[in-house]
Amino acid sequence: MEEVLAIIREDLQRVEEEFRRRLKSRVPLITQIAEHLVKSGGKRLRPAFLILSAKLCGYDGDAHIPLAGAIEFIHTATLLHDDVIDNAEVRRGNPSANTLWGNEASVLVGDFLFSRSFSMMVEVGDMRVLEIVAQATTHLAEGETLELVKTADLETTEEENLELIVQKTASLISAATRVGAVLGGAPPEQEEALAEYGLQVGIAFQLVDDCLDYAGQAEALGKGVGVDLREGKVTLPLIHTLKNCTQEERRRIRDVVLAEELDQRGLGQVLDLVQKYGGISYTMGRAREYVERGKEVLSLFPPSTEREALLSLADYVLKRRY
Ligand code: FPP
Ligand code: MG
Repeated sequence: MEEVLAIIREDLQRVEEEFRRRLKSRVPLITQIAEHLVKSGGKRLRPAFLILSAKLCGYDGDAHIPLAGAIEFIHTATLLHDDVIDNAEVRRGNPSANTLWGNEASVLVGDFLFSRSFSMMVEVGDMRVLEIVAQATTHLAEGETLELVKTADLETTEEENLELIVQKTASLISAATRVGAVLGGAPPEQEEALAEYGLQVGIAFQLVDDCLDYAGQAEALGKGVGVDLREGKVTLPLIHTLKNCTQEERRRIRDVVLAEELDQRGLGQVLDLVQKYGGISYTMGRAREYVERGKEVLSLFPPSTEREALLSLADYVLKRRY
């Protein structure tokens, strides 16, 4: 991962500076909360996807910096809102903004970052870019709403879960790679290839996230484990388990998912069943397939350091522990 990012280190540094500059607000609470979030890190994957895609397509201007910043602002805004929705207590190894400042402030600062991101894009002035990102953010909201509707629905199918994942996560990553292609003035087939790469890798990213929620280490993750189950989210490790378990085991899972409070015992019971039916390895296997599909489409491009970096970034999605 370090090596991959080495070729765009300077650009990523410029994106960090852009963050700091654009976080400023007349209202000190906004700057305070936004700085807490941006400073507590994050992998900056979406900026990396955008920058590498732009460079792969031969872009050598400066607009990739504010645009990468805008995409990361949008991502951060969605996390602020998502942590309120999920009642999450920790994020990026720190108490989440909703824990520190409450739900109201979190939602409002999310709104600020979201709006600011659009100002940054308007300054760049490319209508195509605005169109791509506006469409993706619409999908984000639709995906997150779909997830809400599907809460505690044990009948959720893998296909339904996939649709949700495409919208709530893959759409923004795909927008990042497509925007990179647009910046580089790529011909339509190259733009489609990069958008497809982002989509496939984005799906894998969320599937891994859903595995880590069951099998990750809270400390490495910088967020809680078992949060999905506590919130009644029926993700692929559980969908696969439900498809294969007995009626009696299904009833046990239902009791845990519907319980007001998730205790260690309930979590342990479901975890045992997910292990028993190979829910994690099944989901990781699917994630691997999506990554392979994503990498395949990049064969449209001639070999280059940027293409190598995007291929490694796709593999990193499978290896990540946080
Ligand atoms: C994290 O999922 C959440 C998302 C990827 C999407 C969130 C989208 C919204 C809140 C709606 C749109 C909002 C705006 C501002 C356009 P997760 O809960 O699986 O990940 P986590 O484990 O990291 O919390
Ligand atoms: Mg969440």
